[in-house]
Amino acid sequence: MTTTHHARAAELVSQLTLDEKLLLLSGVNMWETAAVGAIPSTFLANGPVGVGKQASAGDHVGGGEMLPATCFPSPSVLASTWDVELVEEVGVALGRESRSKGVGVLLGPGLNIKRHPGGGRVFEYFSEDPYLSGKIAAAAVRGVQSQGVGSSIKHFAGNNQETFRMRLDSIIDERTLREIYLTGFEIAVTESEPWTVMTSYNLVNGEYPGESHRLLAQILREEWGFTGLVMSDWFAVSDRSTGISAGLDLEMPGNGGLWTGRVKKALEDGTLPLTAVDAAATRVAALALRAASESAGAAVTADLDAHHALARRAAAAGTVLLRNDGILPLRAKGTIALIGAGAKTPRYQGVGSASVNAITVETVLDALPTRLGDSAEFTYVRGYDAQSGAVSAEDSKAAQAAAEAADVAVIILAIPAGKEAEGVDREHLAFPPAMNELVRAVTAANPRTVVVLVNGSPLELPWAEEPAAILEAYLGGQAAGPAIVDVLFGDAEPGGRTAESFPVVAADLPSAANFPATTPTQVQYRENLYVGYRFHDTFGIAPRFPFGHGLSYTTFEYGALDLSGEGVDRTITVSVTNTGDRAGSEVVQLYVHATGSSVHRPEQELKAFAKVHLAPGETRSVSLTLGHRSFAIYDVGSSEWAAEAGEYEIRVGSSSRDIRATTTIRFDIGETVTPVARPVAAVATSAEFARLLGRSVPIAKELLPFSLNSPVADLPSTWLGRRLHGVLLGVITKQLPAGGDEDTQAMIHAVVGGMPLRALSANSGGRLSLDTMDRIVSVLNVASPHARRARRAAKH
Ligand code: BGC
Repeated sequence: MTTTHHARAAELVSQLTLDEKLLLLSGVNMWETAAVGAIPSTFLANGPVGVGKQASAGDHVGGGEMLPATCFPSPSVLASTWDVELVEEVGVALGRESRSKGVGVLLGPGLNIKRHPGGGRVFEYFSEDPYLSGKIAAAAVRGVQSQGVGSSIKHFAGNNQETFRMRLDSIIDERTLREIYLTGFEIAVTESEPWTVMTSYNLVNGEYPGESHRLLAQILREEWGFTGLVMSDWFAVSDRSTGISAGLDLEMPGNGGLWTGRVKKALEDGTLPLTAVDAAATRVAALALRAASESAGAAVTADLDAHHALARRAAAAGTVLLRNDGILPLRAKGTIALIGAGAKTPRYQGVGSASVNAITVETVLDALPTRLGDSAEFTYVRGYDAQSGAVSAEDSKAAQAAAEAADVAVIILAIPAGKEAEGVDREHLAFPPAMNELVRAVTAANPRTVVVLVNGSPLELPWAEEPAAILEAYLGGQAAGPAIVDVLFGDAEPGGRTAESFPVVAADLPSAANFPATTPTQVQYRENLYVGYRFHDTFGIAPRFPFGHGLSYTTFEYGALDLSGEGVDRTITVSVTNTGDRAGSEVVQLYVHATGSSVHRPEQELKAFAKVHLAPGETRSVSLTLGHRSFAIYDVGSSEWAAEAGEYEIRVGSSSRDIRATTTIRFDIGETVTPVARPVAAVATSAEFARLLGRSVPIAKELLPFSLNSPVADLPSTWLGRRLHGVLLGVITKQLPAGGDEDTQAMIHAVVGGMPLRALSANSGGRLSLDTMDRIVSVLNVASPHARRARRAAKH
């Protein structure tokens, strides 16, 4: 936060009464902060793919009516561009649209690590790699904030699954937490200074992040130097006064002063110092003053046509050519069989709070005739049902016949929407079996078949060797249709490289042993550092498509590596030549491999990258910089980042598995690290996990007795709870937006089931105070088998 706003905010807050200060610490409704005296209110709206501003108070998961906004490609696509300049440009457009709608803070980007591709929100996150996630997030934040609108990087921290998301305790050892799960946030905070950070729903090692002094005060503020505001995720607050003490400034959404009584009591009994309230109120006021001053002046309008064009460009730039036997780019000649309901009823964004009411949506079926004109013919058959993925005998027959009769078949293979949504994790990574069969049948009918994947996360592709080409288009936003056509015909290159590994089968992944949860109240990250390519490369389990992979329509040659600098501060320079006859871009990736180390380390880790655009025949020299953190591990013994002296191999290439040049760096002065052996297998045993944690593996909390933190979905575990469950669901459902499609409704119900009882109080419009909820919980517990058992035990 700027010092002027902070100083003015402190002055204004010093003149407020306690009640006024407390008013500032919560929203006034679903989206706005409180206006108090000279302190204005600020409007918050969901990002990260577009401005999700609801038309009325609405709900927090995207079910209510929303104002139209440009729907940009999903974060999976943005990360696959590996293009920080382009992502920043998208950020600028998002910032501009936010300004034009009076939004002061855009809630995004989300940069949780894709620990397992089955996470319900992985479409909304960037990568399995913290360095790439952090760099892309920082670019997005810089873009948005350049327009005088704040960003909120989320969800801090350890929120890597949706199941039981509001009460799951993520058990993560310190080194893994630092190296894998916090590094992206650290990069975003230190490189782009986001105005705000949003804490996550789950607990991390026994504490809610929004109540964790260690995460908020020590790591975020003290170590990383964050000066902005920390807000809760919606309904995430479990104990407001502990949160204020730890540094959770703003509770969202507003709840009519639900916690005021308890916060005052904590002030009276001295458990909460008034200075903590002042600090939080000052940060809320500073945010509001900053948002107001940055948006002062003439009204801003957004050029929506330009944004649509940008969305199209970004979608193509993030499209990954996974496989190509030379069929792509297609020639606009002869006949083309376009197969797949996704061409007509597109999936272009994920389900949940990140969804946007797109201004317009262009489909493949809209774009193809324009591109072909009279030069080629095409036939369209739906192939499958867009909603369910079902393939009727008739669909299959028509698809095969169309493919057989055509020169080329293009299947738009879109996973049904309900499979990827906020609030629920995927049960598996498979397409509906009938869709897999459809691909096989079409490929058999015409080997010149191109499959275009439309999905939010890597899926198992058992037929991957069969089609002539596979394009991963992900969820490409409102201009995904023309972007796919651009790439198919080579009007745009497939600019993407995977920002995540595609496993052959999900069961290969060590996280699968504890995904989505270990018990209903705990998830143990026993795979520790071995997420994504760190696992595949260290344990020798080949992925289907590796991290950083993506083919081009041209070819690139790498020169030898040139090294300069000393110690840990090095620059690696490499020349890259476009040796083909088309323009194209290459993502130069640098991985560091520690040759010998006293601690276990992944085989290699991404430490630098650069995207270069080259004309045919052009050569460019690319410089990549390394520093202390490129070599360091987080040493749990000293609680410091430590780079051991020794030898490191520098691998530079076109993907994690396509290394084109290597060199060795040695430095003799380094820090001592505490030796740690690697768990024998990729999933640590209980003893190994305890060793990594430095304590015994915490025992998972029981579901009973109920508490304010028990989710609604737990209630049916007792009989009285079952009866209350029905009543509560009835009441809540009445308040929910009835609109939206089936998938949105299913997602809303999953979210409600996961809500803790305290969140129901917060959502009750003052009808269910915390004291009332406490009484309900006591009654439920008196009648619970747990309590009966305890009473019986007491008698004996
Ligand atoms: C999501 C956040 C979102 C918030 C407001 C929550 O359910 O986790 O990402 O910003 O709702 O809609």
